[in-house]
Amino acid sequence: MPKVLVTGGAGFIGSHVADLFLAKGFDVSVVDDLSTGKRGNIPEQARFHEIGVNSKEFAQLVGKERFDVIIHLAAQMDVRKSVADPVADATINILGTLNLMEALRQSGAKSRVVFSSTGGVLYGDFNKPPNVETYPKDPESPYAIAKLSIEFYLAYYGRVHNLDSIAVRFGNVYGPRQDPHGEAGVVAIFCGRILNKRPLTIFGDGLQTRDYVYVGDVARAVWLAATKPLPEKGRLDARAFNIGTGKGTSVLEIAKLLQASARTVVPLEFAPHRPGEQQDSFVDIAKAKEVLGWVPETDFPEGLAKTYAWFARESNGAAS
Ligand SMILES: NC(=O)c1ccc[n+]([C@@H]2O[C@H](COP(=O)([O-])OP(=O)(O)OC[C@H]3O[C@@H](n4cnc5c(N)ncnc54)[C@H](O)[C@@H]3O)[C@@H](O)[C@H]2O)c1
Repeated sequence: MPKVLVTGGAGFIGSHVADLFLAKGFDVSVVDDLSTGKRGNIPEQARFHEIGVNSKEFAQLVGKERFDVIIHLAAQMDVRKSVADPVADATINILGTLNLMEALRQSGAKSRVVFSSTGGVLYGDFNKPPNVETYPKDPESPYAIAKLSIEFYLAYYGRVHNLDSIAVRFGNVYGPRQDPHGEAGVVAIFCGRILNKRPLTIFGDGLQTRDYVYVGDVARAVWLAATKPLPEKGRLDARAFNIGTGKGTSVLEIAKLLQASARTVVPLEFAPHRPGEQQDSFVDIAKAKEVLGWVPETDFPEGLAKTYAWFARESNGAAS
């Protein structure tokens, strides 16, 4: 049975990834320190190690178990926290990943690493979207700088130490089990507000767009990244893939679609534009289609309806 390790497997995306690998017949291990993740998200059939990615125990596990694949999702993923404390962000995100790569290098384990990067905040306002992988990068927060730094390290470990890795650059991921504090928190926040019949706050004119991609489609992209033949190792971007929908959706549109799903109307409250917020951000997904054979399958109204239904069940205490 092939073996996969999912770091951050108690989190939003990681728990869906763990579910999918179990369904594909993998032996699944999860590493998570439960700092934001929930024990209840971890599938029962997975082995769980409650440790941090900066620990010695984690490095030992990686060296000893020789997983076929390591899906590295564990991260400090709150952009605002990274601005408040860049050292803490870099410690988990950069040094935690280096702990992983050094464990592989020193043990000689041949695991493929699938790294969760970002397509949402990597390209900044430098380019006109849709952003192509090779576009110049302009990371504007310590969180985005850490993601880009890690991608440089992965390219280095590939070229110099022949370690196998791929970076999947997610758009704004949404779906069941989403935490309202993440990169794409707006969907989760709006679901909660509609359920409580409270107004939806819109910053600026609400016309700013993001690339919202359903978590089930993201898990499938991770699966393909883990199992497909990849392009030659090379420089930054050689093994990086945008995972989004190729379309931008505005916050106003989300507010409208979610209210339709809920068959409820709540007031909209407009607040001043947040300084530094990007106007438009969405990614080009041609490379993922061509090389990984991946396309998103869940259209936005369908994904939002599933997400709202999950939050509604959860608020009734009946969600699984
Ligand atoms: N959600 C998005 O829209 C989005 C977009 C782009 C990239 N990403 C990336 O995808 C990954 C998963 O994001 P998510 O939305 O599922 O977030 P999440 O917070 O739900 O999951 C992260 C998990 O990592 C765990 N964790 C945090 N620090 C850890 C540490 N030091 N050691 C071990 N475990 C630790 C947390 O407990 C949590 O379970 C992250 O790397 C994030 O940066 C997410």
